[in-house]
Amino acid sequence: MITLIASIGKNNEIGKNGDLVWHIKEDMKFFKNTTINHIVVMGFNTYKSLPGPLKNREMIVLSKNNNIDGIKIIRDYKEIVDKYEDSEIEVFIIGGATLYEIYMEYAKRMYLTEIDDTCKDADVFFPSFNRNEWNDEILQENEHNKIKYKIHKYERKNYLK
Ligand SMILES: NC(=O)c1ccc[n+]([C@@H]2O[C@H](COP(=O)([O-])OP(=O)(O)OC[C@H]3O[C@@H](n4cnc5c(N)ncnc54)[C@H](OP(=O)(O)O)[C@@H]3O)[C@@H](O)[C@H]2O)c1
Repeated sequence: MITLIASIGKNNEIGKNGDLVWHIKEDMKFFKNTTINHIVVMGFNTYKSLPGPLKNREMIVLSKNNNIDGIKIIRDYKEIVDKYEDSEIEVFIIGGATLYEIYMEYAKRMYLTEIDDTCKDADVFFPSFNRNEWNDEILQENEHNKIKYKIHKYERKNYLK
């Protein structure tokens, strides 16, 4: 199964200048707890933005042009689709914008932290999606420095694959 996980602003903002827009400790904790002991797939830019390898997770980086010592690189996004779309194993697509775009159509589940804030300097965005196609469960509602956010778990309706 392919799952997307992201934190998005009111206009679907997800990043600026190669970094996240918001750094919410509780959200980071949710990300860690949700992805721990799973495979995480990311684009090369997202890999570069990390302070280091994510512990206790198998990291796979999608890149056409780069190699990274000790990290599994794939050149073709379809490898993930072919292997995991119909698998019991849940793999997490952890960004960035280009990967969310690519894998959205194959995803059965999304964890989205929806932050009640905007960022006019954002330069990367989560793709828009039709909320009617997803069942929506709110897992957490919280506030960080007076900014409200909700963590949603979306499950695709009528998932026939
Ligand atoms: N808010 C969130 O939840 C969240 C999560 C993750 C990231 N982010 C933010 O998102 C931004 C990065 O996103 P991004 O869209 O710029 O970059 P990205 O998706 O992380 O990485 C893009 C790179 O991935 C590789 N790639 C993409 N599509 C490919 C394909 N079809 N085949 C082979 N390789 C492919 C290419 O690497 P090569 O150039 O090496 O070929 C491409 O340059 C940062 O600001 C980051 O902080 C936010």
